[in-house]
Amino acid sequence: MKLPNYEDERKRTNEEVKFIYLDDEFNNDALKNKKYFLKTYGCQMNVHDSEELRAHLENLGAVETDDLDESDIVILNTCAIRENAHDKVFGYLGRCKHIKEQRDLIICLCGCMAQEESVTTEIREKYPYVDIVFGTHNIHELPKLILNHQKKQDIEVYSIEGNVYENIPYKRDSKISAWVNIMYGCDKFCTYCIVPYTRGKQRSRKSIDIIDEVNDLVKCGYQEITLLGQNVNAYGKDLDNEVSFAKLLELVAKTGIKRLRFVTSHPWDFTDEMIDVISKYDNIMPYIHLPLQSGSSKILKLMGRRYTKEEYLDLYKKMKEKISDVAITTDIIVGFPNESDEDFSETLDVVKKCEFDSAYTFIYSPRIGTPAAKMKDSVSLETKEKRLQELNKLINHYSNIKNKEYLNKTVKVLITGISDKDNNKVCGYTETMKLVNVDAPKDTIGKIIDVKITDTKSFSMDGEIV
Ligand code: 5AD
Ligand code: SF4
Repeated sequence: MKLPNYEDERKRTNEEVKFIYLDDEFNNDALKNKKYFLKTYGCQMNVHDSEELRAHLENLGAVETDDLDESDIVILNTCAIRENAHDKVFGYLGRCKHIKEQRDLIICLCGCMAQEESVTTEIREKYPYVDIVFGTHNIHELPKLILNHQKKQDIEVYSIEGNVYENIPYKRDSKISAWVNIMYGCDKFCTYCIVPYTRGKQRSRKSIDIIDEVNDLVKCGYQEITLLGQNVNAYGKDLDNEVSFAKLLELVAKTGIKRLRFVTSHPWDFTDEMIDVISKYDNIMPYIHLPLQSGSSKILKLMGRRYTKEEYLDLYKKMKEKISDVAITTDIIVGFPNESDEDFSETLDVVKKCEFDSAYTFIYSPRIGTPAAKMKDSVSLETKEKRLQELNKLINHYSNIKNKEYLNKTVKVLITGISDKDNNKVCGYTETMKLVNVDAPKDTIGKIIDVKITDTKSFSMDGEIV
């Protein structure tokens, strides 16, 4: 048994990161005839980690089911970013318990929640029917944990700064679009954020290993790659003699991949060199997700974001000027401790100046162990909810305007699958990451086609093949 420990998770020593090249020792049919049910909560990092979980299980012969009731193994890959993510997972565990009362079922919980001291304590004390808990640092140990599992609850969560694993097997969700991790963890320690504790210190992969992976994906016919990291543009800063993120982008663009994207960038690490590279290569998509978090310099300081309102606006302006037709989206938190009406109106002011293409907006959620959770807060939940509503109204207003600009225009869309809205249509994304439902034959899936936009809404558009 190994339980997480916040003090260790907070530590940042100068110890060198180990690069560990995995071999596939667990490739047998020990789980033949077993069905697994995997549920993923949270961000793209978790979505990509689930692709690794799938590979480990399928290397042992298990097959995936989307029906919880017929599964032999349940895996909940969890998120810790806000409290509501917690509530959902504990609710779901109740459903699993009910099934387990009637028959054999192995219940596993992993991901960011597993890295939280308070969660593992609660699971140990109140959820004895959860069989296996493992964290973000030992996903590759899943085969071992399942194969060695006896009746007793197994909690194996490491609170370490972390290693870099290579040769990770992935069973990718898509044959068209792939995620590629370029770094793990985060050292920014924004005061509200749990990520530096649940995912360890910033560890960049070596560019040579990243390029190898991208080349393999290009060879397999992938059309699009998204470089992944909590802080992609701080890439390489933790390694000696490694290239910058701008240079890495250029190297990846030169592999010939049709579309290249990256998430998430921190404004503080966004260099002019990056802007130049993005504008220079046609296969680097003109789409940037640039979290603002707040428009008030006072709140930004309390959040530990390392930029002011003015610096964000300057960077934004530079991107708009230099990268033609760039779409910029953002994340905003309302109701950070003691955010005043004036602070909130500064946020609205930035939204009005930037006219974001879209935004993810959240009410601040205190996370145990972070500095902000200790700040006294005099603002009522009612006020915070009102602010969120007002902000969303403004964001939707601009999303609508931005989408309307596409009406009757012809744009390039990478078709990724059948439309959820209408089974007779296909869907995909513009270069600027707008979802389009397209009247086009199914054999366009996997291709980049010209689409004329015929209608626009806040969150999607309709179009027809040209
Ligand atoms: N409360 C609310 N939102 C948060 N985010 C991160 N931590 C919190 C928190 N404690 C938001 C930020 C981040 C996005 C992924 O989630 O806006 O960019
Ligand atoms: Fe969290 Fe800030 Fe790191 Fe983003 S940059 S993961 S918000 S600590």
